[in-house]
Amino acid sequence: AVARRRPRRAGGPAPAAKTPAPAGQDWSSWPTYNDATLGFRDFWYPVQWARRIGSKPMPITLLGEKIVLIRDGDTVRALHDRCPHRGVPLSLGRREFEGSISCAYHGWTFDLKDGRLGAVLTDGPESPICGKISVRTYPVRERLGLVWVYIGDGDPPPVERDIPAELTENAFVMGGRTDVRKGNWRFAAENGFDEGHAKYLHNTALWRLFKVMPAWNMTRVIESGSWLIRVQDEVHWEADYPGYGTWSNKRWWKRMPLPDHPGKSADVNPVIKKMNIPGFVSIRLPGLLRVAYPHFIHYEWYVPVDADHVRYVQIMVRFEDGPKAAVFKAKYLSWIRWLFHGQFTGQDAWMVDVMDAPPEKLYRPDLSLTAWRRHIEKSDLKVQHARGRLER
Ligand code: FES
Repeated sequence: AVARRRPRRAGGPAPAAKTPAPAGQDWSSWPTYNDATLGFRDFWYPVQWARRIGSKPMPITLLGEKIVLIRDGDTVRALHDRCPHRGVPLSLGRREFEGSISCAYHGWTFDLKDGRLGAVLTDGPESPICGKISVRTYPVRERLGLVWVYIGDGDPPPVERDIPAELTENAFVMGGRTDVRKGNWRFAAENGFDEGHAKYLHNTALWRLFKVMPAWNMTRVIESGSWLIRVQDEVHWEADYPGYGTWSNKRWWKRMPLPDHPGKSADVNPVIKKMNIPGFVSIRLPGLLRVAYPHFIHYEWYVPVDADHVRYVQIMVRFEDGPKAAVFKAKYLSWIRWLFHGQFTGQDAWMVDVMDAPPEKLYRPDLSLTAWRRHIEKSDLKVQHARGRLER
């Protein structure tokens, strides 16, 4: 194995000497990525459908942090799900007063807006501890029918920074599904962008009975803005494996607009073409996959829950309104939701759950994985170390 050297960052400390991996690659070549078991800070993450958040507290885990979501009038609030008194989850608490939550154990009552301790129901109205303690609150927004929570320090950027521009600038109809699945978010993100699995694992997906999937070779990966795009330039390999050659004989995926091949987008829906969505499959930080079919686009967020669980937030979008939108919505609810967001991506979840890497030995199509890891190493990212950060 050849140990890769991480380029030294200007002004930063010299990297610690690492013992080369005994066999094959491991993630020590990508130190930031290697440390990112719990994801990256300073991003907005979609965590749940907004309609599911009511006045009853809902506990979630995001990047290893325990958070409680509560609807407070028109606004969803997010607080650290731990009472500072004795550590009982606030999500077990009661809504005694509007705009607050009372811990189930001794009735410490926290303002939902700023997390300040406003009353202690077991220590009288003049309790001297009131106003001196607070629980952490998190910035929350509602977009695309989802609740977004910001994990980071200081003032958050606009949530639109972390939402694909085409979803904020165009009319569309969407269907979606979200659930927590087993496995680390990095496996899920890599799986989504992984070239080889799409050509083999999904060979048995029922989805392919309805939608052709591209069979390609010679992938390269290019950067375009915040996106990494997998580009399939050539199909020069006529597969002679059983069943493989019938995978697809259409080549629309070659016609998605590409920053370095302007004008090659003849087969794509004019609406998508106009938006200049680049490439068939692309990925961006902090873990969002975009798969652009000619008439609709599938987005998949891999939201870190804890080291062993990841939340899949999947939406299928068609950029239409009017009758075509209604037809799409009906199709989504009647079969796409089950077939694609269930069975197809269920195959991905299965692999993400059972794979056991590193160590690993990579092959040519794994270029997509290494491009993603390099992209992360080049970015200035803060790794989440939740446990030490929150307990005090
Ligand atoms: Fe919450 Fe005591 S643990 S009030």
